[in-house]
Amino acid sequence: MQCEKTIPPLSFGLSQNLLDHALCQYFYKVPCLKSSLLQFQIPRKSQRLLSSLYDYLLRRIRIRSRRRKMCGIFAYLNYNVNRERSYILQVLFNGLRRLEYRGYDSAGISIDHSSSDPKTSSLPPSLVFRQEGNIESLVKSVYQEVAETDLNLKQCFSHHAGIAHTRWATHGEPAPRNSHPQSSDPGNEFLVVHNGVITNYEALKGTLVRHGFTFQSETDTEVIPKLAKYVFDKAKEGEGDQTITFSQVVHEVMRHLEGAYALIFKSWHYPNELIACKRGSPLLLGVKELNENASNGSAFHDDNFLSKSGHPKELFLSSDANAVVEHTKKVLVIEDGEVVHLKDGHVSILKFDKEKHGGLSKVAAVQRALSILEMEVEQINKGNFEHYMQKEIHEQPESLTTTMRGRLLRGGSCKAKTVLLGGLKDHLKTIRRSRRIVFIGCGTSYNAALAARPILEELSGIPVTMEIASDLLDRQGPIYREDTAVFVSQSGETADTLSALEYASENGALCVGITNTVGSAIARNTHCGVHINAGAEIGVASTKAYTSQIVVMAMLALAIGGDTISNQARREAIIDGLFDLPNKVREVLKLDQVMKDLAKQLIAEQSLLVFGRGYNYASALEGALKVKEVALMHSEGILAGEMKHGPLALVDENLPTFVIATRDACFSKQQSVIQQLHARKGRLIVMCSKGDAASVCPAEWESCRVIEVPQLEDCLQPVVNIVPLQLLAYHLTVLRGFNVDQPRNLAKSVTTQ
Ligand code: UD1
Ligand code: BG6
Repeated sequence: MQCEKTIPPLSFGLSQNLLDHALCQYFYKVPCLKSSLLQFQIPRKSQRLLSSLYDYLLRRIRIRSRRRKMCGIFAYLNYNVNRERSYILQVLFNGLRRLEYRGYDSAGISIDHSSSDPKTSSLPPSLVFRQEGNIESLVKSVYQEVAETDLNLKQCFSHHAGIAHTRWATHGEPAPRNSHPQSSDPGNEFLVVHNGVITNYEALKGTLVRHGFTFQSETDTEVIPKLAKYVFDKAKEGEGDQTITFSQVVHEVMRHLEGAYALIFKSWHYPNELIACKRGSPLLLGVKELNENASNGSAFHDDNFLSKSGHPKELFLSSDANAVVEHTKKVLVIEDGEVVHLKDGHVSILKFDKEKHGGLSKVAAVQRALSILEMEVEQINKGNFEHYMQKEIHEQPESLTTTMRGRLLRGGSCKAKTVLLGGLKDHLKTIRRSRRIVFIGCGTSYNAALAARPILEELSGIPVTMEIASDLLDRQGPIYREDTAVFVSQSGETADTLSALEYASENGALCVGITNTVGSAIARNTHCGVHINAGAEIGVASTKAYTSQIVVMAMLALAIGGDTISNQARREAIIDGLFDLPNKVREVLKLDQVMKDLAKQLIAEQSLLVFGRGYNYASALEGALKVKEVALMHSEGILAGEMKHGPLALVDENLPTFVIATRDACFSKQQSVIQQLHARKGRLIVMCSKGDAASVCPAEWESCRVIEVPQLEDCLQPVVNIVPLQLLAYHLTVLRGFNVDQPRNLAKSVTTQ
């Protein structure tokens, strides 16, 4: 068998270390190398050994290429429509504000200095502004610089291309020099904004340095604009008058990049043009036609719509839909390997053919149609609330209703109460036949799966195991063909969960996604799944996605579990409970002031323990996570059954101890836990079902605080029980003076491992 090398020779040198180099060089050859070797007459045992060694190497390389960093990229291009510089700046800043949850330690933009052709103008063509800190620091510094340099904010551009970036630092500390756009040279011939990680940047940097380039930043990104300039200059040298197109430059750059990325390129050699490309990291294009005839909708259904030039239009590129929806709902989700070229009001898409072994080879033009965003602008505004987290906590009755809409059936011609999950109906038989269901997720998504585990076990009778995505990968834990692996992720982008998905998929498991983001990597790469439809969640601490995830998993349990006579009453009670859930959540939200008062009492505390068990072990973990994440207070969720095996040592009259003791099969055990804590003079806060105050906390226990919540079917109780803890975390954060929506050091979706 002949092994063809499927990538051009790596003329840009070697990777970081010997093993990485070997892996990178042979990435594309591994499978064919493997089958060639196995043709030799070697003992079967050695063949198996070799085969698993190669599979392992391949997996490691793929996992390496998944590492991405969290950032937001945005671009705005106006074509044939006059826009003042101040307007362009506002669009770019607003775009960044919408993406700020993705990273907020530094930011930058690039706009044009002059509307005249840079080739004939003596003015410096592209202006770059970069600033450490959040978006507002950038905005302030830009206007300061504008004032100092007398830059005309009223200057009009009929065509203009601006790019923007908000960063979460991984390579190099937050500082202007490490912020994006990164530049090819002091004249900013090529500028790039990047979300992702370039894994071979050191090798590329070494080669570029040998070719005379000097580097200003510690980022992996800086190699990209410099490589673009190198490619451009070489082409110019070799071809004289023949010009190389912007997309040819970018194709050549992409061929040499390893890792994951979403990139937007701007260059003064190609004024008013932008190029976007991606491999791994998310990116979408928004299209706003400003021509009346075109906006009546007819153009939208035309697959060639994107190739129509001439009409005035505005084009947007963004890491996610949040930054686009206020301008247009017509979008195109850019796919891996695609290079999108915006030029003269024309959108052309070229796609790298993916070779058998993952390499990038020939390019071919592709036709794509736009789709409509199912999202409203109100979803991404704070409305009357002060913070996104507050808004998202309070909108849970509505988000839960949306999650269940069309999926719960009761009454009508068919009297039965039942569940219909459109995304799973063709796979239910396979899931029912699985030997095991494995829930995989990180952070809040993991906790949601933990909350749903008991009901899934009960109704399906299938063993359910729990995996934190990073731990599964660290252990390379066993996943079998007979497993159903369920990936739970609000963003659908989390790097650990994505890598675990790749791992489970390679091991032959049926992969099911539970995500909030349509078109996300997890939604696309799973065999099937359910969108939780909770609406955009912007606060970094997940709240409404958590409750919607639990509800989807409870519906999953109902869908998988057989409708037998013995469990009919239980199923119907759960379905009735689901119908009633938004009302119950509305009721528990009335505890807002009570939780604020409690927060006032806890404001100066160092630590908070939260005890739960059974259905509410997850509530304890999630409540503690919320307090830790946003209020920056140490907090631990503890399985109450483990209390005697260590945590009891911490209990005294000072440490606030929160116990979840709502009515379910574990209630009497929780009563006993409360007694034991009280006996050690524990400073108790007890959450119980309405009417149970006296049973959990006798009147003579003066220091004990009780929070009564509405009671409902045990498996749905975690949805109600988490709300007071979310409110507590929120108020504690505000009272302690911390940033609620952008907690220190955290980002909403963690796309780096
Ligand atoms: C779908 C439509 C919804 C429409 C409804 C009624 C979408 C996104 N949803 O909802 O607008 O009102 O039909 O017919 O078009 N999937 C995965 N992995 C995931 C999540 C989903 O593979 O992580 C797949 C599902 O298997 C399914 C598709 O994505 O094929 C849509 O899933 P979902 O939105 O949950 O399906 P419906 O509820 O049927
Ligand atoms: C991050 C977020 O840590 O990722 C958490 O800050 C979130 O809120 C976790 O729970 C997992 O994210 P996702 O998108 O996979 O649910």
